[in-house]
Amino acid sequence: MLNHEILEKNIGLMVVAVVFAISFGGLVEIVPLFKLKETTEPVADLKPYTALQLEGRDVYIREGCVGCHSQMIRPLRAEVERYGHYSVAGESVYDYPFLWGSKRTGPDLARVGKRYSNEWHRAHLFNPRDVVPASIMPAYPHLSENPLNGSLTLKKMAALRTLGVPYTDEDIASASAEVQGKTDMDALIAYLQGLGTTITQKR
Ligand code: HEC
Repeated sequence: MLNHEILEKNIGLMVVAVVFAISFGGLVEIVPLFKLKETTEPVADLKPYTALQLEGRDVYIREGCVGCHSQMIRPLRAEVERYGHYSVAGESVYDYPFLWGSKRTGPDLARVGKRYSNEWHRAHLFNPRDVVPASIMPAYPHLSENPLNGSLTLKKMAALRTLGVPYTDEDIASASAEVQGKTDMDALIAYLQGLGTTITQKR
């Protein structure tokens, strides 16, 4: 009783005690996630991004798509019926950083891969209103004109390999040829078409 009174009447001590309690609780919740197989092991057949997809992912980040689109389907009926199988952590283990997002001005894109044709994406990104008349998504016509800058592709893949992404020497050796002569649009579409396909293909 007496000890508690000391704590409650001394705000400095209270702050220290609260910080300690929250840090301890946080550690107990978060640290085991680094060891749990469900959160660290890739799902079966998960392939690392190809060189072109990896560059497309960087275009996605650069253009701020994540500000309007999440890539995280929650295990709720409404979400699963609309978007497909809920997202599992093992699908994102090669994502540095992951792009789960939290803002949905547009639909979730976690399983958009193969839902539309490449031509649809090209038309949609060039001007969304051409295919979805009521769309409020911005147009990205410049992506078709920007030649892809592949000068860092090799380095990006080598860096990801040090983080545990299983790129082979051949993957890295053929990277430059894969991005050669492509545009930002080609790369972005290659990335979108791969999203979430590891699990849906098997359903
Ligand atoms: C200002 C918010 C906003 C931004 C930024 C944005 N989008 Fe969208 N997006 C939307 C909205 C709203 C829709 C739904 C209407 C439509 O299909 O155009 C949409 C739809 C889509 C769809 C179709 C999804 C489906 O399941 O039908 C794709 C693919 C897409 N966006 C990709 C992108 C990409 C790639 C970028 C970045 C280059 C991007 N979006 C940036 C708002 C946005």
